[in-house]
Amino acid sequence: MRVVVLENAEAVAQFAADFIVRQVNGKPNSVLGLATGSTPLGTYRKLIEAYQAGRVSFKSVTTFNLDEYYGLEPTHEQSYRRFMCESLFNHIDIDLAKTHVPLGSTLDVERETASYEQAIRGVGGIDLQLLGIGTDGHIAFNEPGSSLASRTRLKTLTRRTRQDNARFFGTIDGVPKMAITMGIGTIMESRELLLLACGEGKAEAIARSFEGPISSICPASVLQWHRQAIVVLDKGAARGLSQLEYYADCEANLKEVAKV
Ligand code: GLP
Repeated sequence: MRVVVLENAEAVAQFAADFIVRQVNGKPNSVLGLATGSTPLGTYRKLIEAYQAGRVSFKSVTTFNLDEYYGLEPTHEQSYRRFMCESLFNHIDIDLAKTHVPLGSTLDVERETASYEQAIRGVGGIDLQLLGIGTDGHIAFNEPGSSLASRTRLKTLTRRTRQDNARFFGTIDGVPKMAITMGIGTIMESRELLLLACGEGKAEAIARSFEGPISSICPASVLQWHRQAIVVLDKGAARGLSQLEYYADCEANLKEVAKV
């Protein structure tokens, strides 16, 4: 696991955007896994800038989002489909037909979740999955207690998650109670993982996830078991980590080797 600690949220966004641009320029038909929430917004803004500056094209890219609120139409103000269109898709040259977000308003959850898995398999799997983290350690909407082998399915949100997201819906009661989410097993099959976290509010979840035991009670901890996982943090989110000096040494040495 590579832990990269940067000065602030801006630097985290720049790191993630540069990483994604390199991925897409190296493989124009990359399959990207995308995330929602406030954290990736800066990254998406920088991707739009890179596109506008002619440094990258998303014409042949396929995307799969992690999750969607159950019961929301794709056009709902707070749907993740709408979030993705407004924050990224509408501003780049991506083919919307190649973008996938689970259909929260589906009347047939079994079919929707099975076909989501099938679609991911059909394009050969995800090359690079972007992740955020919930204050309870969740990834996508895999709440504490989620099976580490889980697949795309319907999941009940914890009250804490609903509280965290109440700011978007006005009140906690406005937040849907369930979501369709990629499973942890699905996420772990991605060839590379890039988890971003900013702010002290994430510090406890980060320390538990990356310096604690692997456990379903802290779903993000499963990244310790992934061969290509990069955790990118600002100083606030990194505050609870005990091995900061070592992580900095690792980064410095990587840079040295790259120069040779
Ligand atoms: C939601 C999303 C997660 C995201 C989390 C953190 O629960 N389903 O994918 O990581 O929010 O969001 P934020 O980045 O706003 O803190």
